Amino acid sequence: MAAPNIALDIRIARPSDAKLVARLCRRAVGPGDYVLRILSETIADRGLFLVWRNGELVGMTNLDRCIDGAGWLSMARTDPNWRRKGVTLFLQRHVIAHARRRGIRALRLWTLSTNTVSIKACMKGGFKPVCESAHVSCSIGAKRKPRQLAPLSLRATSSLKFVLESSYLVKMNGYFAYKWYFVKANRELLEKLLRKGELYWDGKSAFILTKPERSFGVPYSSVALLHGQVGPSLRKVKEAAKGFGRIWLGLYLPYDVNLLNAARRTGFKRDPWAEHCIVFEKET
Ligand SMILES: CC(C)(COP(=O)(O)OP(=O)(O)OC[C@H]1O[C@@H](n2cnc3c(N)ncnc32)[C@H](O)[C@@H]1OP(=O)(O)O)[C@@H](O)C(=O)NCCC(=O)NCCS
Repeated sequence: MAAPNIALDIRIARPSDAKLVARLCRRAVGPGDYVLRILSETIADRGLFLVWRNGELVGMTNLDRCIDGAGWLSMARTDPNWRRKGVTLFLQRHVIAHARRRGIRALRLWTLSTNTVSIKACMKGGFKPVCESAHVSCSIGAKRKPRQLAPLSLRATSSLKFVLESSYLVKMNGYFAYKWYFVKANRELLEKLLRKGELYWDGKSAFILTKPERSFGVPYSSVALLHGQVGPSLRKVKEAAKGFGRIWLGLYLPYDVNLLNAARRTGFKRDPWAEHCIVFEKET
């Protein structure tokens, strides 16, 4: 049972906290924790909340901003000696209040379907499951000259209504993944992606393809399928992405065995770290 009366302190991580944060990650998850690979940039982004008890670091979680204005939570870690004492619930309360003060109306996160403790902690904190997904990815080179596939032109906004009714969005309850987080589709957001030149549509397939950004040490582009059959659409995605050179290409598909098999046949492998993700949301 959580003990809400334990006095805890909270503040944003500073570069000088890196060693203690790394120790917490190793103790909470192990030496393979992905957070260790992106720790310095995470701290530099000034969204990593640390919880202290009498000067001892006992827990953490990170808050990012999604392109649709929602907040994205990740990296929840509580030291094994401090589990089930309400550290995560304390963090959730503080981060929600912080988000509300900054006009963030919803917070989202995902957790693996096998992480029952984390799922229980989300539910206890009032987060509701909104969709299920799995991440697939592949590496592509740029040996051949890419076939021209241009982003949707700004004049073509009438296609957006059609995209908003896509079967992918229906399967995902209206959500799709953009970079590493999930966003809720609406016309305003699609128009923003259109202006960024990230929305592609050729009459049969529609997808979002982000420009490569360094992630986990390599250039990464994220994809969201919005319309069209998986196989042909992913082949077009690969063609379009070849224009970016040698990159790692990834997407979160709806958790559906047929879609995942079709992606595998197009050369995309299931990523074990996101084999079956449950996406949660809470209004602040
Ligand atoms: C998931 C994790 C962050 C939870 O942190 P915590 O500080 O122990 O959580 P809290 O004490 O605030 O518990 C909150 C609620 O979660 C649930 N919960 C937590 N631990 C539980 C357990 N061992 N068994 C069942 N339910 C549990 C309970 O509903 C609990 O509320 P209650 O104690 O009032 O019933 C922690 O277990 C952890 O660091 N795990 C490893 C890293 C990880 O999996 N992170 C999540 C990645 S998305």
